Amino acid sequence: MKETKKNHPILFSELNINGVELKNRIALAPMTRTSAEENGVPSERMLSYYRRYAKGGFSLLISEGTYPDEAFSQGYLNQPGIANQKHVNGWRLITDAVHKEGAKMFCQLMHAGALSQGNIYSKKTIAPSSLTPKGEQLGFYGGEGAYPIPEEMSKEDIEQVKNGFINAAVNAREAGFDGVEIHGANGYLLDQFLTDYNNKREDEYGGSIENRVRLLVEVCQAVREKLGKDFPIGIRISQAKVNDYTHKWAGDEKDAEIIFKQLSTSGIDFLHVTEYHADAPAFDEKGPSLAWLAKKWTNLPVFANGNINTPELAKQVITNNEIDVVALGKAALANKEWPLKAGNGNKMDEFNPEKFFNPDAKIKDFEL
Ligand SMILES: Cc1cc2nc3c(=O)[nH]c(=O)nc-3n(C[C@H](O)[C@H](O)[C@H](O)COP(=O)(O)O)c2cc1C
Repeated sequence: MKETKKNHPILFSELNINGVELKNRIALAPMTRTSAEENGVPSERMLSYYRRYAKGGFSLLISEGTYPDEAFSQGYLNQPGIANQKHVNGWRLITDAVHKEGAKMFCQLMHAGALSQGNIYSKKTIAPSSLTPKGEQLGFYGGEGAYPIPEEMSKEDIEQVKNGFINAAVNAREAGFDGVEIHGANGYLLDQFLTDYNNKREDEYGGSIENRVRLLVEVCQAVREKLGKDFPIGIRISQAKVNDYTHKWAGDEKDAEIIFKQLSTSGIDFLHVTEYHADAPAFDEKGPSLAWLAKKWTNLPVFANGNINTPELAKQVITNNEIDVVALGKAALANKEWPLKAGNGNKMDEFNPEKFFNPDAKIKDFEL
């Protein structure tokens, strides 16, 4: 299918993120697939998965959550890592293939913290406080039952986590990624620090919202310091979690102001905000979306994600929320060529959960 831009030109304008030229405003959202080798080395299945989206016209692919270190960060068995040279070499094949198709690729660096349910390096899990996580392990990633009780992190553990993110970002650059997205969302370690009921620390990383966002800011700063000013770095933020879909920040818009303002001082180049509906009011029945608040308080490029399924809605989200990039998850799974279809005015296929979340399928048979 040939790319045209005659429909929805607003989706097909270029955007430069700290020197990286995106040919349009349509990104693939990060999606864990648990289809790496057991040792975290990216597989051929992953290469063909990512290449299809690059061919399909997405300007930017954000990788699935990738573990940064060989300690406590891995969340799922068969999750890819970016912690050692073998991982780097494996990802290099993928970034090369993606670049060949004209797309850019960012690596999502994810520390699972208390939500780790499969880690080849450790049985122990760590978190801001030693509290049993809400909810149950995710069955479609091979887990079952309650999450283990994590160990409370010491100051040394915090330093180790920061160093893990730094090393992983260096590795990501060596692997040919065009940028990194730090996973600060969806209930994983950094979001555990941000979340009032997960974080009962009495030091400077707990208590007030200013303290709870501190580690997120410090990780971004540390990565920026190590990589210098010319490499795109961003962070993903959400209210909802994989183990608590309806969570809302207790301080509403005031919390959003503090979180986004603090993050904007950390040297990042973009913010990726995910909500169930990207354009829905963030806190009450009325009011601004979280993406709009992110833009307001940071003035950085903002990526918005959450049920942006049609080009019409994508256009509306970009226009009404003053955001820069739409990141597509399920709509992309159902339409690998979503940008080409949008450009040509073709009909989109509906997402069919049964095809993608078949409970009888083995983990590795997750959709290609
Ligand atoms: C199979 C699957 C795996 C996902 N894995 C990740 C992940 O690794 N990192 C992440 O930040 N979000 C992950 N998500 C969340 C998506 O990035 C996205 O936020 C979510 O699907 C909502 O967007 P959508 O309505 O466009 O699908 C995953 C979602 C799905 C469906």
